[in-house]
Amino acid sequence: MRRTVTLGEGRTPLVESSREPRLYFKLESANPSGSYKDRFVAGELQRVLDGGGRACVATSSGNTGSALAAACARCDVACTIVVNEAAPEGKLRQMQAHGARVIRVPGFTVQAAVTAQVLELLEDLSRGQGIAMVVSAYRYCPVGMSRVEAIATEILELLPAANVFVPVGGGGLFSAVSRGAGASAARVFAVQPEGCNTVVSAWREGRADIDPVASTTRISGLAVPFDIDASLAVRQLRQRNDRALTVTDAEVFDAQRYMLAAEGIYCEPAAAAALAGARKARAQRWIGPEDDVVCLVTGHGFKDPDSIAVAASAHPDRKVDAGALRDLLMAEVR
Ligand SMILES: Cc1ncc(COP(=O)(O)O)c(C=O)c1O
Repeated sequence: MRRTVTLGEGRTPLVESSREPRLYFKLESANPSGSYKDRFVAGELQRVLDGGGRACVATSSGNTGSALAAACARCDVACTIVVNEAAPEGKLRQMQAHGARVIRVPGFTVQAAVTAQVLELLEDLSRGQGIAMVVSAYRYCPVGMSRVEAIATEILELLPAANVFVPVGGGGLFSAVSRGAGASAARVFAVQPEGCNTVVSAWREGRADIDPVASTTRISGLAVPFDIDASLAVRQLRQRNDRALTVTDAEVFDAQRYMLAAEGIYCEPAAAAALAGARKARAQRWIGPEDDVVCLVTGHGFKDPDSIAVAASAHPDRKVDAGALRDLLMAEVR
């Protein structure tokens, strides 16, 4: 019997902002492992299983690995994941808890040369040993990526002329959303950290080629310093006449704190890049007050406890004996 790979991913909520009219959040963080990568993994692992594969090797900044580890546990597929040394704790623990073998490689996803070396090695290994290589990019895994395109169609069913803001690392997610938007009236905006602006700089300068950069961004998931799907993203941008912009890490962390404190949305920093981009696009009048704006909340707050700890430190807890509790509560509860 054919086994269907699914954990119930997709069809994620689209919620309105509690503060701003016409601002919406697409909660990809509500996917089973906490990021949009569950959509990708469901499609890609299905392809692997249908082809008789029983093992895979993957690269990940964290979320692909978490999603893949969960699906592999369920489907009894052996899974080895190569990650960057600084992958956030929440994502690493997820992979390990599901039983994936995790290998940390310093410089991977940060330095272009190390990243290229690792990818080449895995490609060789995958070809030589017949083990599936899982990377969330069209360049390597177009079948899985095609499942991500549904993010756009789900939004457009409800908001046919939406302005969709997409956090960009390697460029695969943007390419998928842009493809999903097709010939619709939607506009799709690529938002990249200033410290890793592969797509935005090529788009601004009219280049087709992607220049590798020395990434300085601290936003996990968005530090992809050379062309994986970046050139595809630039082609998509030109084809649909869409737009791209950069945001600083500080603007991303500020947007994350706003989402936590004012929208009740528990997200990782990469996910908040979309709102940081939407704010900038508004300030530049790329979008007006009558436009519907959708920010993709691509990953959950549990993924990156360090960034959450910074936001939490503004609201320290207190410890009191039960006898002193009444006075404290009377002073505070209104
Ligand atoms: C939470 C999150 N948002 C956005 C992205 C960017 O996706 P892409 O690398 O396809 O541009 C990633 C990639 O890992 C991610 O984990």
